Amino acid sequence: MVKSKNGFKDNFLWGGATAANQCEGAWNKDGKGISTADIQPYTKGINRKSLNFNHVTKQALDNFMNNNELFYPKRNGVHFYDRYEEYFDKLEDMGFSCFRMSIAWTRIFPNGDEKKPNKKGLQHYRNVLTSLKKRGITPIVTMSHYEMPINLVTKYGGWENRKLINLFLNYCTVLLDNFHDLVKYWIVINQINLIQYESFGSLGILYDKNNNYLEQQFQGIHHQFVAFGLVKSYAQEHYPDNKIGTMLADCILQPYSCRPEDVELAFKRNRMQYFFGDVQILGNYPDYALQYFKDNNIQLKTLPEDEKIIHDNLADFLCISYYYSYCVDAYKNGMDPADTTKNPYLKENEWGWAINPSGLYVTMSNYWDRYHIPMMIGENGFGFEDKLMDGKVHDQYRIDYLKKHIKALKQAVIDGADIFAYCSWAPFDIVSAGTAEMSKRYGYVYVDYDDFGNGSGKLYNKDSFYWYKKVISSNGEEL
Ligand code: BG6
Repeated sequence: MVKSKNGFKDNFLWGGATAANQCEGAWNKDGKGISTADIQPYTKGINRKSLNFNHVTKQALDNFMNNNELFYPKRNGVHFYDRYEEYFDKLEDMGFSCFRMSIAWTRIFPNGDEKKPNKKGLQHYRNVLTSLKKRGITPIVTMSHYEMPINLVTKYGGWENRKLINLFLNYCTVLLDNFHDLVKYWIVINQINLIQYESFGSLGILYDKNNNYLEQQFQGIHHQFVAFGLVKSYAQEHYPDNKIGTMLADCILQPYSCRPEDVELAFKRNRMQYFFGDVQILGNYPDYALQYFKDNNIQLKTLPEDEKIIHDNLADFLCISYYYSYCVDAYKNGMDPADTTKNPYLKENEWGWAINPSGLYVTMSNYWDRYHIPMMIGENGFGFEDKLMDGKVHDQYRIDYLKKHIKALKQAVIDGADIFAYCSWAPFDIVSAGTAEMSKRYGYVYVDYDDFGNGSGKLYNKDSFYWYKKVISSNGEEL
């Protein structure tokens, strides 16, 4: 008998997501090394062009590392490293069944190329994961979330260097060996496709206008694909119960008009986003990508064994982050991933992120139709400059945003998509990845620190806290 679904499955995981570099702080404690995130300066009110953290040049890197006048918010985060139990109390109170977190590479291998891991770092994460276990919260752990040891940038040139494959594999196998009993779901690299914004943080490649930067980026990505395959292969052989997932940021592009040129451009641009999933889930470099490489004079250096490593070690699940959508207009935009047009039908938040719940339905349905593997939402949320008044935050705007997105997700489930978890970004306020400010808040819990880390540090439940608690207890029925 064919039976249709009517909502989220009974064991659906509800939770929230964070990244170590945006919340932990304690940037030089217990043997931690310096990461790319630790040198991201606060830029609000400063000329952002002169402090571009997306395309970091050698000169900019020297400035970030040696300029005493800059302030680095991620070095403090929200002191999660020392206060994680207090934050977990809040998550437990909301009824979280999962929590997405990342491990800082620099706590385990401070410089990335040591022979032995830092024992204090391993002990810290064992404590954190054990606390989650005691609370009945399933961890979903990202191995690399926009941070890498700075030494791997300065000494090796980041992921463009093939040596990074083994250094990263060494780190990941240490994580698997130490935590396979506490962690089932692993995401190897955060948003592997978002190279237009995160080439420095994720790939550690410095920008030099004389080079073919796109080629360098895709070379780094190729090495990440191979590393992913080797991590998957190791996990499958040693810890077959562990699931190894990949993650894409879905920045869905819709045609600006029904002009065939806009429709075709949107199709081609979206396809270059699928490229990452096509390699890691279907197992091959697709022809359209090879053509794109040709058009852009990209010649990748590969070894004969790479093809088999990629082909034989596919992702077990797909994690998607979804915040906004954009349009493409063939009159104005080309194939550059950062080149987009605003959608005149959508409202935006203060940072220009267009709110489009329907895009989440389209996106999850598309991924399901294309890949047919289990999926989860690893991030979805609404950044806003919340105001704390008399110990309360009335964030109905956030509730409205999340409600509409969860509804859209449910529709994708009803239409067949196999989705096993939803993590909003971020359950408590943390430092923004893009702008390194505290004022762009996402949490259900207000954390009383300002952009410069001043404040009481007290935690306050926002209105959305009580709303999400109901969503969880009703398994997404009461929105
Ligand atoms: C995602 C990142 O792309 O967006 C997170 O994985 C980030 O690390 C989130 O925090 C929201 O972006 P921002 O810049 O508002 O913090």
